[in-house]
Amino acid sequence: MGSLTRLVVFLSIFATITLKLNSQYFLPITKHEPTNQFYTTLNIGSVTKSPVNLLLDLGTNLTWLNCRKLKSVSSLRLVTCQSSTCKSIPGNRCAGKSCLYKQPNPLGLIPDVTGRVVQARVSISTTDGGKFLTPVSVPRLTFSCAGEKALHGLPPLVAGVLALSPGSSSFTKQVTSAFNVIPKFSLCLPSSGTGHFYIAGVHYFIPPFNNSSFPIPMIFTPIRGVDSGDYLLNVLNIYVGGTSLSLKPNLVNSGAKLSTVVPYTVLHTDIYNALAESFTLKAKAMGISMVPSVAPFKHCFNARTAGKKLTGPNVPVIEIGLPGRMGEVKWWFYGANTMVKVKETVICLAFIDGGKKPKALMVIGTHQVQDHMLEFDFSRTVLAFSESLLLQNTSCSTWPSQK
Ligand SMILES: *[C@@H]1O[C@H](CO)[C@@H](O)[C@H](O)[C@H]1NC(C)=O
Ligand SMILES: *[C@@H]1O[C@H](CO)[C@@H](O)[C@H](O)[C@H]1NC(C)=O
Ligand SMILES: *[C@@H]1O[C@H](CO)[C@@H](O)[C@H](O)[C@H]1NC(C)=O
Ligand SMILES: *[C@@H]1O[C@H](CO)[C@@H](O)[C@H](O)[C@H]1NC(C)=O
Repeated sequence: MGSLTRLVVFLSIFATITLKLNSQYFLPITKHEPTNQFYTTLNIGSVTKSPVNLLLDLGTNLTWLNCRKLKSVSSLRLVTCQSSTCKSIPGNRCAGKSCLYKQPNPLGLIPDVTGRVVQARVSISTTDGGKFLTPVSVPRLTFSCAGEKALHGLPPLVAGVLALSPGSSSFTKQVTSAFNVIPKFSLCLPSSGTGHFYIAGVHYFIPPFNNSSFPIPMIFTPIRGVDSGDYLLNVLNIYVGGTSLSLKPNLVNSGAKLSTVVPYTVLHTDIYNALAESFTLKAKAMGISMVPSVAPFKHCFNARTAGKKLTGPNVPVIEIGLPGRMGEVKWWFYGANTMVKVKETVICLAFIDGGKKPKALMVIGTHQVQDHMLEFDFSRTVLAFSESLLLQNTSCSTWPSQK
């Protein structure tokens, strides 16, 4: 083969690879108030659009929904018990010829959700990082059909749960393998309005961040626990106003679990008390006065005594120290993420005392991570997170202007 031919072959292979590398997909994220749950909207079924709202859950292995909410149920194909698809889903069961899957309800309100496993065409949008471009379809997305009862406790208009677990059957893993793109997804949960959900995201265009010349700066930390279906971060330290809390090492070492269904971070009593005590002392020193608590929160303050910043009420900063590439990296949480306004003049520390025997010692909830970009990258098993976007006077619900 002549060197020119070889070069052409090489370049065309290279072009195919780069094309794939730059393919990214995009879905909206809506915050439902007052439940503080987050859902996306997906088109399932045939050519006629059949949008369904699905709760985002990092703990669900296989997407499920009440299939009666779909316009065309006829486009669903049943997955048989003998098929390789059924066998590839960990924890699958059979009922006669059909494949079943049973899993916990993410909100824990009803025992378990059992559904028949099916496949259907699903369409999602490609993106340049800022706009919804051409829709493309995943010909066979595998999910399960659950009954009406399974929807108990979910926000109205939500028809099921989108699986974002690290397992191989999750929605995002199915999409990245169908399109043969980098296995990663990114969530930018909005504090209100519509946020951004990228699959295989390369460019994020959230003004003033403009993609290549001014990208969102990201910090990296390893993710643990993916084999057990969780996203755990190795917490090294917790700081309040720059001072580290003195906690027994066994309290922090078990790691912090990330959740998209828990609204406020839940902490073991000993961690909660240490955090709240230090926070209250530092707040007092800033002239912020305490007021009676408002359940479920235990530490509340007079909002008028705290100043205001782009990043919310001016209160002591809470930081989590995590392992980085070269020593500890810090995730900073400012007032908008650490405080919640419960009345016009009352703000409360937006953390929950989970008691002495919680299932996980720390579960990081959505109030703490909203308006940060989070990237779950399975190619390196790392979480990349941004600082609060509010620092740049922008947010997860900011969109490029349509020209
Ligand atoms: C972002 O930059 C890349 C190349 O650097 C370009 O292909 C893409 O179109 C840009 N996206 C936007 C929204 O400007
Ligand atoms: C992106 O933003 C930076 C900083 O504001 C600016 O210098 C640059 O010109 C912008 N680039 C584009 C393509 O808009
Ligand atoms: C999800 O799958 C993992 C194995 O991949 C399993 O350990 C975990 O219990 C499953 N989670 C749920 C909620 O079913
Ligand atoms: C932040 O943006 C808003 C408009 O989105 C603008 O009115 C305000 O002046 C900006 N604040 C700062 C400090 O840049």
